[in-house]
Amino acid sequence: MELDFIKQTFSEVFGTNNYKSISCPGRINIIGEHTDYNHGLVMPAAVNKYLHFCYNFSDSEQFHFYAMNLNELANEGDKEKHSWLYYFQYVLDECRERALSIKPLNIGFGGNLPIGAGMSSSSAITCGFIACLNEANQWNLNSTEMVDLAHNAENRTGLGGGIMDQYSIIKSKSGHLLQINCKDLSHELIPFSLKEETFLIINSKVSHALVDSAYKNRKQDCLDILKGVQTQYPKIETVSEITAKMLLGFKIDQTKLKRVMHVISENKRVLAVSNAFKNNQIAEIGPLLSESHLSLSKQYEVSCPEIDFILDKAASLDGFLGGRIMGGGFGGCCISLIKKNKQAIIEKYLFDSYLETYNLELSFYPVEVVSGVFQSE
Ligand code: GLA
Repeated sequence: MELDFIKQTFSEVFGTNNYKSISCPGRINIIGEHTDYNHGLVMPAAVNKYLHFCYNFSDSEQFHFYAMNLNELANEGDKEKHSWLYYFQYVLDECRERALSIKPLNIGFGGNLPIGAGMSSSSAITCGFIACLNEANQWNLNSTEMVDLAHNAENRTGLGGGIMDQYSIIKSKSGHLLQINCKDLSHELIPFSLKEETFLIINSKVSHALVDSAYKNRKQDCLDILKGVQTQYPKIETVSEITAKMLLGFKIDQTKLKRVMHVISENKRVLAVSNAFKNNQIAEIGPLLSESHLSLSKQYEVSCPEIDFILDKAASLDGFLGGRIMGGGFGGCCISLIKKNKQAIIEKYLFDSYLETYNLELSFYPVEVVSGVFQSE
């Protein structure tokens, strides 16, 4: 669903040509998975898959929403009937708690960002809506304030997610990756331009199952270890400051130990990938992605058979340099690094074998990194 179509539909449904639009991208994450809420390093970027929002002031006392991809109309307060409306409601609750003055809007939104595929469609709703409110109500919030608002609004879900999604969706700069330090919330821009290789997103079409409870469990496992470590190393504040050496000699639950070992190694991989980009040694990134996957699958245990199948099959293909599951896990997308001239062959082989085994059709999205949420023309 493209912006022009969304604008036209908004005009028809809300009966006006007087409206503004905001475009909000989804995000990819090159590396640094399940490290953000552990105060470690991540390397995301906004990507050229969007949710577009059109809005004008509502004539009534209420917000009105139109989810165009689902063809569903709703009013504020209808969240029990429409799960997507929760994200709008969390934003409104958070804004009201912060005493921001809000005039009700009509909002129509839609786009080509895959839903529930690990590309942050829910954060795109939250961040896009905040950008509309910021503009319409002339709050003049800066990007850091918007990230904070979005992150807190989304954490009303109770998931306790990290800051990577909102940060990258709001602060990305086209042609760059963000290397974010999730402890001090600073970032470095890594120039991103590839010649012979490309990052290819592979959508498994498996929707995340049990992701919320598993996500919370993983987070708790890490925090439990942190508590133990702090009894001997009181200066350690976050999971990402724990070293393998500190864990020697502790009597630790083996499962929880695996979780923290993933975080320790994943943070190192982010630095290694960062160096590879800076030294233009792109081919070195492939094996680091595959190592990350192994760790996510075996130590953090957030993969699923379908994604493992895709990456197993791909590993032996000429021109496939490496890949891993991306986002919260248990389904969704993989991110892979491939040789551009092998893209068609790789896609065909994976598509056919996956269809035969799982009766599902893979989708492929070559990556173009773009700027964060912006006002559309
Ligand atoms: C989800 C969360 C992010 C991050 C990833 C895993 O996408 O929203 O904050 O924790 O999972 O890296």
